[in-house]
Amino acid sequence: MNTFKKFAVLVAVIFFVTCNVANAENSISTTDAISQNFEGELDNYLNSLPHKTEAYKSKQRPILIEGAMNIEIEKFVYALKNPVVYKILNYVYIAGTYKNYPVVIARTEQGMENAAVSTALAIEHFKPVAVINQGTAGGHVAEAQILSVIIGDKYVNNSAYITENTPEGAGVKIVPQEMRGTFAYDKDEKTFKLYQEYFSDSKLLKIAVEVAAANKDFSTLKGTITSSDAWLNGIDHYKYLHKKYGSVAEEMETSAAAQICKSSGVPFIGIRAISDNIILSSNHYADAGNVSQDFVLLVVDKLIRNIKAGKF
Ligand code: 5AD
Repeated sequence: MNTFKKFAVLVAVIFFVTCNVANAENSISTTDAISQNFEGELDNYLNSLPHKTEAYKSKQRPILIEGAMNIEIEKFVYALKNPVVYKILNYVYIAGTYKNYPVVIARTEQGMENAAVSTALAIEHFKPVAVINQGTAGGHVAEAQILSVIIGDKYVNNSAYITENTPEGAGVKIVPQEMRGTFAYDKDEKTFKLYQEYFSDSKLLKIAVEVAAANKDFSTLKGTITSSDAWLNGIDHYKYLHKKYGSVAEEMETSAAAQICKSSGVPFIGIRAISDNIILSSNHYADAGNVSQDFVLLVVDKLIRNIKAGKF
């Protein structure tokens, strides 16, 4: 090996080692992200708060903010004034005020069924004026950079599909698939019917887009969020979902919450920060939970101002 080649190899080795050390400091593996124990400081704080069993009373209808895990709700919880805890069928809600307006935080727990139940119980008990489902997500396109914020405009349950007919021995084929959809209540037809997609409330979407335009320190992307109980790890699968449904990110709660809000007639938006994107990196960045909350706090701030001005 000549001297130049030796030097090039040395530079490459130093670069590789430095990148991995940097990654190790800022990220955890996907397996750790799924299985890590999220209990801890926040749970101790929640246990120390007054627990209520009586009906929730508020002159104004609260804003409901949802997150599946402690790392997706703790900033909101600590930002609330006079917080109290409600436990309904073991789902945790923290009610208080933010900027002198009632806000309820729901820890939905992970997955579609938990998100649906937690949302339905909250709508019944707290009568929210709007629901914001937020937290972390995996990117489906390169533009969904790590820690960028996805402003959802459309929500698809990407497990609600019908596959092609295939004969025995053809192997398991989950694509191509035809969208089947999920059932939600249609208030005009007064019956539950199949919906292939759910949409953000137009006023909430406008507020989120305006917040993005006014806060350029957040990198934001508007688009479809696909949800299911699966965690997908195939770049071709991402490409398929992007082409078929316009998906820019996946996670496990948003479309379930959107479906329940559709059935209940409650304005809804989903906002997510990218914690992982295997097109870009094999790591998971838990800090996305903080980024999502920081952005959503700005949205909530603006929503409260709009409510107080009679514009929502
Ligand atoms: N796929 C699925 N869910 C993800 N989440 C973050 N990234 C992904 C991903 N790539 C979120 C889910 C769930 C938890 C596992 O993290 O919404 O709550």
